[in-house]
Amino acid sequence: MSDRYQKIATSPFGKSLFSSLGLPTPVELDRQDDAAADFVKGKVLVGAAVGSSLLDVVAKTLSDSSAEICCQASAATASDVVKAAEAAGKKVTQVSTGREDVTKFKGLVFDATGISSTSELRALHEFFSPVVRKMANSGRIVVLGLAMEDCASVSQAASMRSLEGFTRSLGKEVGKKGTTVQLIYVSKGAEAQLESPLRFCLSPRSAYVSAQVLKVSNGTETTAIDWGRPLADKVVLVTGASRGIGESIAEVMARDGAKVVCLDVPQAKEGLDKVAARLGGTAIAVDITAADAPKTIADALEKDFGGVDVVVHNAGVTRDKTLGNMKADWWDMVIDINLSSEERINDELLERNLLRENGRIICVSSMSGIAGNFGQTNYAVSKAGVIGYVQAMAAPLAEKKITINAVAPGFIETQMTAAIPLMTREVGRRMNSLSQGGQPQDVAEAIAFFASPASTGVNGNVIRVCGQSLLGA
Ligand SMILES: NC(=O)c1ccc[n+]([C@@H]2O[C@H](COP(=O)([O-])OP(=O)(O)OC[C@H]3O[C@@H](n4cnc5c(N)ncnc54)[C@H](O)[C@@H]3O)[C@@H](O)[C@H]2O)c1
Repeated sequence: MSDRYQKIATSPFGKSLFSSLGLPTPVELDRQDDAAADFVKGKVLVGAAVGSSLLDVVAKTLSDSSAEICCQASAATASDVVKAAEAAGKKVTQVSTGREDVTKFKGLVFDATGISSTSELRALHEFFSPVVRKMANSGRIVVLGLAMEDCASVSQAASMRSLEGFTRSLGKEVGKKGTTVQLIYVSKGAEAQLESPLRFCLSPRSAYVSAQVLKVSNGTETTAIDWGRPLADKVVLVTGASRGIGESIAEVMARDGAKVVCLDVPQAKEGLDKVAARLGGTAIAVDITAADAPKTIADALEKDFGGVDVVVHNAGVTRDKTLGNMKADWWDMVIDINLSSEERINDELLERNLLRENGRIICVSSMSGIAGNFGQTNYAVSKAGVIGYVQAMAAPLAEKKITINAVAPGFIETQMTAAIPLMTREVGRRMNSLSQGGQPQDVAEAIAFFASPASTGVNGNVIRVCGQSLLGA
């Protein structure tokens, strides 16, 4: 759905008028069209606190892009950045970051893992303060921290937790230019697993993801992947794929090389078949709440592909009423479609060993499951339950070398949100740091990141795709 406000606000006339009236002027966000396109272009300023441990993997990751690695000439760790970049085959441009310098940065990456006590948090101010106003539009900021459980002291653990407050506040300051800020905690020994999340956070794929905290822990060792087609030959099941976000997930998966299996209710068969045909995939028309649905789905995947690599539980419904007016059948229906059916399908696939090694389960939750929403007790129960399910399943699935994660979309431009009354819709759209609604593609990109065979260290995470909505924690 088009956002007329944004179109007017970004026109040459609208821009000055809207800013003089103090109204938000949302910028057009960069998005990934071609899977093989460079994940980051332009100047990326890299810095670190003294004693940090992730510069090597940062440099190695950036060496696979056309980005120009820069460092602050005056920084105490400038020589560490140069050393790491040279080892990765990249030259470093040393920049002075004084007011007179007009360099624009596409990305800022700060390795904060060396901060060992709260008195060293000053390193954040030293790195970011001189450059935060020098970000290009749709810029990317990434802060790297050490997982709290690996901290050597209470003061270090407190410092690492401080990074959350920093990134969430910074996201609110830079969002008006379409810039996003993420924090990635890395466990000791999981350094090699950082590449996939770092690429995602620096790329246009994370256009509508901001102020999120990702955790990277030890995952299954993976062989080299083709970053231009990360899902090549993977079989991906997407439920609710005949339209909306599900259709976009199937598109992005196919773009990334997957064989897509699109599923939707029999009533949506016509649209479903069209989507599957367009993407060179197959279709399963089944209601996921039917008693025999898990078996039907598992049988189809076994017969056609001998199993499945990625399962995306996207199908979902809302049936809104305040609790006092809500009939039991609406309560039951929403929880069964959005939550219980996912458990039953996973149980069948796991019992029959059809989800292959380095497999992925990705669930679609909602901001409503995090913040709650008026008239949505049933929906919020189901979507908060999805988060609980993901968190509870992460450890047992890790033993089988499978990961499970969730996305929690905020305001996404779909038929569902187009039906919201105008004023409520406008408020929903603007109440986030990027002052605009997200696109179905933004949700799909976050799911594709979880699905990547390289995201093996990302397990039990929940990413909000909400432009840093002002609602919720
Ligand atoms: N649109 C948003 O802003 C938003 C925000 C947060 C979360 N979500 C979630 O994202 C997911 C997709 O939402 P959407 O906006 O694309 O909605 P949508 O209504 O356009 O699509 C949902 C799809 O699920 C299918 N479906 C419903 N019940 C089913 C069943 N029993 N069996 C099989 N398929 C079934 C529908 O036929 C439909 O194709 C949902 O889980 C929704 O709760 C959406």
